[in-house]
Amino acid sequence: MPRIAYVNGRYANHNDAMVHVEDRGYQLADGVYEVCEISRGFIIDMKGHLDRLDRSLRELRMEWPVERKALEFIIREVIRRNHVRNGLVYIQVTRGVAPRDHAFPTKPVRSALVVTAKRADPMAAAKKAEKGMTVITVPENRWDRVDIKTIGLLPNVLARQAAVDAGAQEAWFVDPDGTVKEGASTNAWIVTTDGSLVTRPADFGILRGITRATVMKVADSLDLKVEERAFSVEEAQSAREAFVTSATSVVMPVVSIDGKPVANGHPGTVARSLRDAFFAIAEKSPSC
Ligand code: PDD
Repeated sequence: MPRIAYVNGRYANHNDAMVHVEDRGYQLADGVYEVCEISRGFIIDMKGHLDRLDRSLRELRMEWPVERKALEFIIREVIRRNHVRNGLVYIQVTRGVAPRDHAFPTKPVRSALVVTAKRADPMAAAKKAEKGMTVITVPENRWDRVDIKTIGLLPNVLARQAAVDAGAQEAWFVDPDGTVKEGASTNAWIVTTDGSLVTRPADFGILRGITRATVMKVADSLDLKVEERAFSVEEAQSAREAFVTSATSVVMPVVSIDGKPVANGHPGTVARSLRDAFFAIAEKSPSC
């Protein structure tokens, strides 16, 4: 079955789906994106993701490429045409096509929209969560507006590759004061010895994860305390548990940090309960 992508008004065969060479996303990373999980035929937290897209667009003075309702329709249509029941939908908006110039185009340009969807195997993800993942730490070297979900991800790409080169699965950015910011594509959490969840406040220093927000509600439903505060690499290494959250990983236990096992080096029970309870609490929109 051919994969189908939506590109600027057309549903095209995935291999033939192209953007213009002067798309400002391609040349200048002048664009924003969202990734939503699709689980059992439902789009997870679509409202949260589209609200954040709206914020990212406003922060960069970009227009919606189509109305929000139309985008919701396109998202569902791409999922339907690709027969995705479990997987991810990717939404990218760039400032559009214009002769290369660093400043915004002076003539009005329609922002460009790409939507793709791909399948993922929920059993494989569950198996991964049973094993947990390992992380390394890297110095924070990103710009100071990482709260905007832009496609300018080169530092994140290099951090993730450093993790892969070290035989790990994720890299955590660390500030000069030794505190953990977030992962290359995930938010970072620890569980303290008294069972509280700790994650960095979502100010301008990290991306305000949609999964992070839902996990806070899940924690509340499980009577777990959440503290939004900075934590150091050492505190994480000696924590009861550590885990990451994102639309792509939901809740994924972290079993070692820079080669040091977290607790006994196996996934902990808190991360597991949060993962198990996640879909009961998350907002679910039918995908078609
Ligand atoms: N990444 N922090 C960063 C830097 C991210 O890129 C992401 C998501 C998150 C978690 O956000 P959310 O819970 O809304 O997915 C935190 C997506 C999944 C990606 O780039 O593929």
